[in-house]
Amino acid sequence: MWSYRQPTQIVFGLGVREALPEHVAALGSSPVIVTDRVLATLPVIDEITGTLGDDVPIFSDIDPNPTVGSVDALTDLIRDIGIDVVVAVGGGSSLDCAKAASSVAVQGGPVRRYHSGGATLDMRHLPLIAMPTTAGTGSEVTPISVLGDPEKDFKAPLVHDSFFPAIALVDPELTVSMPRSVTASTGLDALAHAIEGYWSKNHQPICDSFALQAVELVFQHLPKALEDSSDMAAREGMSLAALLGGLAFQAPSNAAVHACSFPLSNDYHLAHGAACAMTLDHFIRFNGAAMGERGPALAEAAGCADMTELADAVAALKAASGLPTTLSEIGVSEGDLSALVEASFHPLMQNNPRSVTPADLETMYREML
Ligand SMILES: [Fe+2]
Repeated sequence: MWSYRQPTQIVFGLGVREALPEHVAALGSSPVIVTDRVLATLPVIDEITGTLGDDVPIFSDIDPNPTVGSVDALTDLIRDIGIDVVVAVGGGSSLDCAKAASSVAVQGGPVRRYHSGGATLDMRHLPLIAMPTTAGTGSEVTPISVLGDPEKDFKAPLVHDSFFPAIALVDPELTVSMPRSVTASTGLDALAHAIEGYWSKNHQPICDSFALQAVELVFQHLPKALEDSSDMAAREGMSLAALLGGLAFQAPSNAAVHACSFPLSNDYHLAHGAACAMTLDHFIRFNGAAMGERGPALAEAAGCADMTELADAVAALKAASGLPTTLSEIGVSEGDLSALVEASFHPLMQNNPRSVTPADLETMYREML
């Protein structure tokens, strides 16, 4: 038994950002642009804002890992000005903050009520247009908002169907300004979404198709995007890979690689994609025997014969991308391993195709030192 639902309209292609004014006009009359502090200083935001009119408010008070405080500040702005359509331009941080604020602004805040307070959201929300400027998170097609709460030392995804963007406006030209390190980490995040959606215990045939195509696209295009940041065919391929990766894991959910990524990013300050890349090839080796015929099918999408070859190919891609490949590089020492193992057992670990014990994970982490 499986079900599949995707309410977001997807508009994809080079230059589709130029149609933003028409999409906004169809959804409301008082838009806000939501972006991050760095992007807000770049010409691309001026260009996008300019198409909507000079008096369109811009909200950019968003940290690289968005916080409940950012959501509440955006919620206040939406209510104070009477915003009726939200346009999020950026990476996962801007999109995740905008998703939560678009619902909380209508339903009443603060967002902490829903994030850690146990209150339940309903379907009321403002329409959101999501315009990714990275190629990796897939946030433009998921109902997931990952938020931190520094005062409670708590970071967790808030997930609700009201968070699906109305429109994902995916223009690969917006990803050209990404620095190489962001291209690398977000590209590996897209690969991790495809692989984890495929091997999740909740895998299903529609998402399998997205996953296999996304894996093929990452191996075809990520090396070229890293080599030449202005290679538009590679950028287009990676934007599509990220979109399909998001669709691939959205219903089945991620598994062990994402479970382990949380302490690696929270405690050792790795970018999310780099944290996923850290264990990805190791879990491909670990899960291979548990995947039966599905293993070679996944490997084949990357041009590999089996899961062992796929693990080698992912390890090589990670190293060539310049991402960290050992735990010692990011400051983990042998004495930290037991705490790292304990912090890695997020509920997503339950979706892994092969059960993972603390001893298994400690062995894996020790090999990665
Ligand atoms: Fe991810």
